[in-house]
Amino acid sequence: MLRMTVNVSHDAPNGRRMRVCALSELAPGEARRLELDPPVAVFHTDDGDVYAIDDTCTHQDASLADGWLEGCEVECPLHASRFDLRTGRVDAPPAKKPVRTHEVTIDGGEVYITLSDAVPNLPPGVGAPTGGSAPSTAGLA
Ligand code: FES
Repeated sequence: MLRMTVNVSHDAPNGRRMRVCALSELAPGEARRLELDPPVAVFHTDDGDVYAIDDTCTHQDASLADGWLEGCEVECPLHASRFDLRTGRVDAPPAKKPVRTHEVTIDGGEVYITLSDAVPNLPPGVGAPTGGSAPSTAGLA
């Protein structure tokens, strides 16, 4: 899977909805890692759907944007647990907890995400975002 890193820009006063990129810049089968805290991965499936989930596997510190996209699932690159991009659910161990999902909107050919305010299921040893349960986007344009 081709992986690209991108910083995001906010378009709402509360900072939770943000532009990712033009849909034309995210080809089917590709993923983008957004450098948020915690990071978010945005996937464009071969069927043309776009989904956003937390990028960090819930088992250990692995980037799901580096995983293998198949249908609406991504397989973790380290130990092959598979996460459903629609629900965040994991199919089998070693990962046991789901990843958070984030709302995706396509507006005028642009991809936007609205960050979930649920608590992320980060693996042991990976720090939770500072400042409470909401992800930090401080410092992003
Ligand atoms: S790090 Fe993802 S399944 Fe182990």
